[in-house]
Parts: sequence; structure tokens; C-alpha cells
Amino acid sequence: MKYRPMLRIALVLAAALPAWAAQPVHARHGMVVTVEPHATDVGLKVLESGGNAVDAAVAVGFALAVTHPSAGNLGGGGFMLVRMADGTTTFLDFRERAPGAASRNMYIGPDGRPTRDSIEGYRASGVPGTVRGLEQAWRQFGTKKWADLVQPAQELAAKGYALSYTEATSMRNAARGRNGAKGLSDFPASNRIFLRDGKYYEPGDTFVQADLGRTLGRIARLGAKDFYEGETAALLAKDMKENGGLITLEDLKSYRVIERKPLTGKYRGYDLITAPPPSSGGVGILQMLAVLEGTGFEKAGAGSAAAVHYIAEAMRHFFADRSQDLGDPDFVKVPMAGLLSPEHILQIRASIDPERATPSSQVKPAVFVAHESEETTHYSIADEKGNLVSVTYTLNGGYGSKVTAEGLGFLLNNEMDDFAPKPGDANMYGLVQGEMNAIQPGKTPLSSMTPTIVLRDGKPYLVLGSPGGPTIVNTVLEVLLNVLDWKMNVQDAVNWPRFHMQWLPDELRMEPGYSPDTIALLEKRGYTVKPEAAQGQCAAIQISNGWLEGAADPRSGGKAAGY
Ligand code: DON
Repeated sequence: MKYRPMLRIALVLAAALPAWAAQPVHARHGMVVTVEPHATDVGLKVLESGGNAVDAAVAVGFALAVTHPSAGNLGGGGFMLVRMADGTTTFLDFRERAPGAASRNMYIGPDGRPTRDSIEGYRASGVPGTVRGLEQAWRQFGTKKWADLVQPAQELAAKGYALSYTEATSMRNAARGRNGAKGLSDFPASNRIFLRDGKYYEPGDTFVQADLGRTLGRIARLGAKDFYEGETAALLAKDMKENGGLITLEDLKSYRVIERKPLTGKYRGYDLITAPPPSSGGVGILQMLAVLEGTGFEKAGAGSAAAVHYIAEAMRHFFADRSQDLGDPDFVKVPMAGLLSPEHILQIRASIDPERATPSSQVKPAVFVAHESEETTHYSIADEKGNLVSVTYTLNGGYGSKVTAEGLGFLLNNEMDDFAPKPGDANMYGLVQGEMNAIQPGKTPLSSMTPTIVLRDGKPYLVLGSPGGPTIVNTVLEVLLNVLDWKMNVQDAVNWPRFHMQWLPDELRMEPGYSPDTIALLEKRGYTVKPEAAQGQCAAIQISNGWLEGAADPRSGGKAAGY
């Protein structure tokens, strides 16, 4: 057993925790945290039967495509961060790529304004990467038979499972578009499968997905080849062609997973391993932590107006830089050294007025002259050997483009909206982005997904990540600060009320849980505070005193389970 009890230390620490602290799930051998209980159970079974964390991550990836269809997917993409017990780390980028026929102005209408085509319908999808991504992870690190990892998902789809309140409500809420947006009911296969042609699913109903079951059956037998070159590919390309979509058989055939070097950095002596571009998340985390480390913000205490102020200012500066300086590193030069340079960090830190919010209009994206060479889901897994896997994958918006591929049973992404559909204008998340993130064939849209791992003294300490579009980076940052600075246990750290600032719009969004006088103090500093119902769904594991501690987010219907 890897995680040895260190009882004395544990007792001392336990005594320091408030009696009301929320408790994570404790286990000795393995832990799976996802947003959906069936998927958690699939992963746990893989671990219990001797599979490693990557095996479990593959099985969970397929299971969530069945049991959490708003974000779990075959028709989307994502990032998998792996740290094996021997110290090997890697980052698998299986995010969607722009189809060959995509072009810079494809979403700009005749009136010069962005259309809704990047958000809904057949033209919104990038070439999906999930199936090839999961297969590559399995080839590199897996130990179980491929078919055994796909089969639990196939069974859940073919035989069905009882829908939770969360999932049934989510499908109903996505049925109809609002304010000119389209919903699942606007696309025949989506309407048939997720809404039973208008006879909505109720919590507890058995949800069978026969088409998806057949697709998964082929993937179990034939591997990713079926999805990219076989029957699934042919059906998908045909459906795209008949409905004005861009993805061709050639796009599918040429899809490649890109293995990247994770981004690494330090904070208060902890080692961080996180997401490199085309994610903006890792750079954001490292830049914001570096800015904060020298400010003494933590002394004001978690949830205090003074601490929130420093953190929000760091967020504002990062998101300003993000708007101009980040994109797919295979297409544009990302000034990583500049973004993380001590000079730039010092400059940001020095510009923060302890008493006043800086209006976003006065914060400009940094210009580096010398260029150097609604809905996503996250799950975290740790196994008995000390292997750690952190996966964030997505269709982008909830239920993606709302299009279910005819005869295939899976939803397609609307990841094209993560590009700058019109450089200089805001996208679906209100993110203003520039030429670095303009559309080009084969390019990967800039992401905020931030799967992250932290080591203490070189040993596994934390695995975490979250959905939430641009709020992802800030959610991960805040959970890190809660654990590393404020010493909350991992469940408290995940539960704690969150806030978000992304430069533009110039507003501070705050979850319930901040007192009126804290908010008043922030408003006095110059913030425009707006309420936010819920930010992110973090799934985290802390390895602490011989225990694996799993924390699902109360904002999700998730489950942490271990053995
Ligand atoms: O990659 C990204 O940044 C977005 N596509 C993530 C979308 C997301 O998290 C939506 N979730 N609520």
C-alpha cells in the first residue's frame, strides 16, 4: 500500500480543524471523483479490479459520455494530465481542431456581426478528439483490455440506467432555446433521444440510448479506428454533409492527439503541474499565483474583502493578457517567458492599489516585443500505486451544438466558439479575444480548461480541475489558495464560495456566501459586484497523511468514492 498512515500527524491536524468542517470521502487505495455517480462507480470498479488510474480514466471518459450527456462526450474533446508514480508526466491534448474548410470570417454575418453559427447547429463543431485521446492514453499507460474499459459505458447506454434529478432536470432545461438560441428540441435526433419527442424524462426514469450503445459497441470492438475511419466516421461525415456541417471524412481521418509537455511551476514550495497552451489555464494559474505570492493577501483571511481584492486584481490582469497573448502554440507564437517573467509579475503586483479596484479600461494586455521561440466536466483519479490522472473534457456549451449525429447517438461540440469568432468581439463567454485565437484550418481553439496536479516534497498532494469556461482558471486558483494558503481540508476548499473576474466585462461575480459587509467593502474599493448562482464543479483529491481524500462539488450531483 502506497499511502501509509501517519496517525500521529493526522491526529494533530484533525485537532486543528473546526468541528464543523465538511468531510471528504476517505480511502486508502484508490479514489475516483466525477460529477455523476454511475460514472464514478465505473471508474472505481476498474481500480478495484486491478486497473490503474489511466484505465479508470478511460472507462470514466466513456461512461460520462452516456450518463452526463451535457458535457461527457464522444463528440467533443479535452485534456488529460497524467503523472505516473515513477514521475513520468504528460499532457494529452485531444481537443477539437478546426475543420479543413474553416476560415477566419466564417462566423461573421453580412451585417459584419458574429452569427450564432459558432454556438449551435452543424457548423459549430470542431473535429472531435475524445475517442482518439482516450485510446492514446490507454496505449501509453493502460493495463486492462480496451474492450473491458468501453463495455461498462456500452451497457449503460444499451440497457439504460435510472436518471438522477440533476440529469433529468438538465435535459429538460436544455430542451428549448431562449432568447433566439436553439435547444435540443430543434434537432430531430436530439429531440428524439433526450426529450422523447417532448415527453420529458422524469427523475428515476430509465434512460436508454440505443444508437449510442451501438456506437460504443463498435468502438469497443474496433477501437478509435471506427470513429475516425470506419462506420461511425462515414455516418458522421454524411450527416455533416447533408446538414451544412464542415467536418469531412478526411478531417476525421487526419485527426491526431498532440502530446505536450505539461507546464510546471512553484508556489510556496509546492510543485505545480498544469495545462500548457492551447490552454490558457496553466499560464493563468502560474501568473496569478506568482503575483499573489508577494502581496501578503493571505493574512487578511479567506473570504475577506482585502483578500478577494488582491485575487480579483490578479485575475483582471491575467484575463487582459489572455485576450491578446494566447492561442494555439502550433500556429502562433505564445510569449510564455514574457507572461511569466519576473519583470511582468512585479509590474502587475506593483500596479495593484491595496485600497482601490483598477478599472479594466486602465488595464491593457501586455505587449511582448521579443517573441520567444456551459458545460464541461472534470474528473480526478488516484490509484494505489500513486498514479494520478486529471481530465477535463467538454462539448463546450451544455449539450454542445445541440446536434446529435443521426444514427450515432452522440452530441456534437460547439467548440468553434472558443476561437475568436470575430476577433475583438466577445464570444459566448463574453471573452474578448484577438488575432492569436482567430480561426484557421487545423488550428486548436484557445481553452481555459486547467487539469492540475500539485506535489509536496516531490510526492502526490492534490489532483483537481473544473468546468466553467473562463471561470475554470479562477475556480482552480481559488481551490488551490484554500488548500495551500488557508489550509482548508479539500472538501471545505471545494465547497467554499467562489468569485470570478475576467477583465471584461469589468465586474466581480460572487457566489452566495459573502456577507453584505464584505460586498460593501468591495464596492467601496470600486468593484461592480454581480451575483452568480454557482461557479464551476471542482472534482478534487488530496493525498494527506496516508489517506486519499476525495471531494465532489456540492454544486454538481457528483460523487467521490474510493476503496
Ligand atoms: O475549453 C474551454 O475553455 C471551454 N470550452 C470550456 C467550456 C466549459 O467549461 C463550459 N462549462 N461549464
